[in-house]
Amino acid sequence: MSDAIWWQRGIVYQIYPRSFQDSDGDGVGDLRGVVRRLDYLVALGVDALWLSPIFPSPMADFGYDVEDYCDVDPLFGDLAAFDRLIGEAHRRGLKVILDLVPNHTSDRHPWFVASRASRDDPRRDWYLWHDPRPDGSPPNNWLSNFGGGGWEWDAATAQYYFHSFLKEQPDLNWRNPAVRQAIYDVLRFWLDRGVDGFRVDVIWLLIKDEQLRDNPVNPSFRPDEASQHRLLPLYTADRPEGQAIVEEMRDVLDAYDERVLIGEIYLPVERLVAYYGKDLRGAHLPFNFQLLSTAWNASGIARIIAEYEAALPPGAWPNWVLGNHDNHRIASRIGAAQAPVAAMLLLTLRGTPTIYYGEEIGMADVAIPPDEVQDPYEKQQPGIGVGRDPERTPMQWDADPNAGFTAGRPWLRLAPDHEARNVAMLAQDPTSILALYRRLIALRRTHPALAVGRLEHVVAVDEILIFERRHGAGHFAILLNFGHEDRVVARPGPEIPAIVLLSTVLDERGDALRPEIALRADEGVILDLTRLPG
Ligand code: NOJ
Ligand code: MG
Repeated sequence: MSDAIWWQRGIVYQIYPRSFQDSDGDGVGDLRGVVRRLDYLVALGVDALWLSPIFPSPMADFGYDVEDYCDVDPLFGDLAAFDRLIGEAHRRGLKVILDLVPNHTSDRHPWFVASRASRDDPRRDWYLWHDPRPDGSPPNNWLSNFGGGGWEWDAATAQYYFHSFLKEQPDLNWRNPAVRQAIYDVLRFWLDRGVDGFRVDVIWLLIKDEQLRDNPVNPSFRPDEASQHRLLPLYTADRPEGQAIVEEMRDVLDAYDERVLIGEIYLPVERLVAYYGKDLRGAHLPFNFQLLSTAWNASGIARIIAEYEAALPPGAWPNWVLGNHDNHRIASRIGAAQAPVAAMLLLTLRGTPTIYYGEEIGMADVAIPPDEVQDPYEKQQPGIGVGRDPERTPMQWDADPNAGFTAGRPWLRLAPDHEARNVAMLAQDPTSILALYRRLIALRRTHPALAVGRLEHVVAVDEILIFERRHGAGHFAILLNFGHEDRVVARPGPEIPAIVLLSTVLDERGDALRPEIALRADEGVILDLTRLPG
């Protein structure tokens, strides 16, 4: 374990700051609230927390529209509160990862205010300004990822600017060296303050085609999908010149010790792994989101594990994600019965796991009535299920009316089951999903094989996914029943008896096992093949 770096052996925990813990009664989570909950994260056993954006922002996209990269929004606190958070986290051995949003700023960022002031402003070329076509229409067919056209007309200077997301989020011009340097200075500002790394927002979108070529039509577009999928983002995403930027960001981090660069990338595996960079000089962890989109069955998951492992460049470190603030919660996607199986999968696969806050208590999506919708994406394309509010509801800490999240009125309604599903109650129950997360994390810490060991023999037998982990003398088999019925499987591998180290059912049915193993419905087990029963 000792030669693995913290972000390889450790676990990342994503906090959506608005929804984690409010400390001042305004109904919105804040940094003092996070500090109050650090001991919870220590007890859970995670190693790093990633904070979604905390910077000053008009909150058109809840912080992903940054107005000042080097400060903290008053809603969340101030720089002193941030320094305190870093200090308190580090004192407890926790790392802190910030969310860098370099593709776009807020339209209220002083850079954009200057840029749109006149065509001659030195900042004009910091954004993507272009003339209309002769008929006055936008320069090309590029769309916004939130729906609608990607070009916004600016009457005062008679040009269009491009926005990959809201029109309040103009895209920076990453071909301009001054833009690059300005963002690298932002990285240094926070690195100097002690942050341990960055999750970089939409890192695969930073560069767009210089010739502004039209994106091609998507032949498999279905009319019930979000409208931006009408076109394939050939010229607005994953451009070859983007790799150099990732390397430059990495260079900035490498001037410091052991900081981590995580990239948000939604791409097929063969393109995703390119973001490790030539000679691994790119992102340490290009986020692997395959568990967000693959159908939940043993053979499908076995296939993506094998494909991913095969695609990784030599020496590249894998990672896995079950959920985040942009996707429906795992417990809702696969059902509460399978959530423990997902937990065991995430925490026994090879690679760095990222836990989205609330997964450890089995939080589900919360239905938000139309008049309470907050998410701008839902507002732009209502009623087709793209809204992200359901997975952003407040953390459920206890059985109080506001779940211990706030003394005021929460910015998003709480889950209807929060009185039964909350940290305080689940912590009392040794068979709860929270207990399972704690046990799994503790096992990862005790057994290097589970954290950094090799991954071997990935197979699906009917609805059972089986794989093994090995490191030194440590040897474990993980068997996960994706089905809702009891099953007996022949266990592959050496025909020795094995001990159940942990079952997701948490009832300690630790029989010695023979070459056959019986799994209950929705059960996962870790078998210890190192020790013999007796
Ligand atoms: C990806 C972020 O995760 C998402 O929440 C945001 O809306 C877009 N990028 C735009 O920044
Ligand atoms: Mg608050």
